[in-house]
Amino acid sequence: MIKTHYTIVENTPIAPKTFKLVLSGEGVVEGEFVNIGIPGYYLRRPLSVCDKEEGQFTVIYKVVGEGTKVLSEMPAGASLEVLTGLGRGFDPDACQEEALLVGGGLGVPPLFLLAKELKARGKKVTAVLGFNRADEIILASEFRNLCDEVMVSTVDGSVGVKGFVTDALKVLKPTYDYFYTCGPMVMMKAVCAALKKRGEASLEERMGCGAGFCYGCSIQTKKGPRRVCKDGPVFKKEELIW
Ligand SMILES: Cc1cc2nc3c(=O)[nH]c(=O)nc-3n(C[C@H](O)[C@H](O)[C@H](O)COP(=O)(O)OP(=O)(O)OC[C@H]3O[C@@H](n4cnc5c(N)ncnc54)[C@H](O)[C@@H]3O)c2cc1C
Ligand code: FES
Repeated sequence: MIKTHYTIVENTPIAPKTFKLVLSGEGVVEGEFVNIGIPGYYLRRPLSVCDKEEGQFTVIYKVVGEGTKVLSEMPAGASLEVLTGLGRGFDPDACQEEALLVGGGLGVPPLFLLAKELKARGKKVTAVLGFNRADEIILASEFRNLCDEVMVSTVDGSVGVKGFVTDALKVLKPTYDYFYTCGPMVMMKAVCAALKKRGEASLEERMGCGAGFCYGCSIQTKKGPRRVCKDGPVFKKEELIW
């Protein structure tokens, strides 16, 4: 775990209540997620890394409460204290040849970085991305530029397959040997039930320290209690109790 100061390069809306935050600092950020200190708030806010390069990384976040509201009002040039090097992330080497990515809403951003890592390893990548409606769609063109196949679903049917990602999976019938999913718990439970092959899911749990000390994010798994921030947030499908 590393505590570092980052400077906001960009903090702009990309969908209703949804912002792209680009932070610059030294080196390449490590870990599946970062824990961002919000001025005036004791607890940090965990956000997944969506993209990264030397000296810069991107997160995409939705304004849901007070902390993310304050964050959304911070200008370029402001400094944020960030904990990095957190979490056990997706394992791109678990996939042999063909990966299936299934994301929902704000679960889509961390799958983008994973898609880049899978493509860098020469894997075929299919992505199924689910949203409520057209104006909530994020990163679809970025996934299309990167992946071999992309299918979008919207609950209201305004774009792509009408319904949930599980409806899109029935239409697409993708070939894959390993899947990765991130999104609302109810979505990931349905995805893990629908997909019979091996895979892993990135869980979300309220966090205290975010670094393994307080046990505030503990969940029960088939292998016993686990901390989402330290042992996860990514867990193998067969470990999970829904
Ligand atoms: C590993 C991980 C990765 C995440 N990645 C993203 C992401 O990429 N984009 C995104 O928009 N959101 C993400 N979230 C959810 C995000 O952390 C919450 O939406 C955010 O903390 C809400 O803060 P708030 O102050 O606006 O809300 P408030 O409800 O005011 O927050 C009160 C407290 O509850 C915590 N909290 C509230 N909702 C959540 C939640 N869903 N998960 C965890 N803690 C929560 C806050 O961190 C804070 O400590 C992630 C959560 C986890 C655990
Ligand atoms: S949030 Fe403290 S151990 Fe996970």
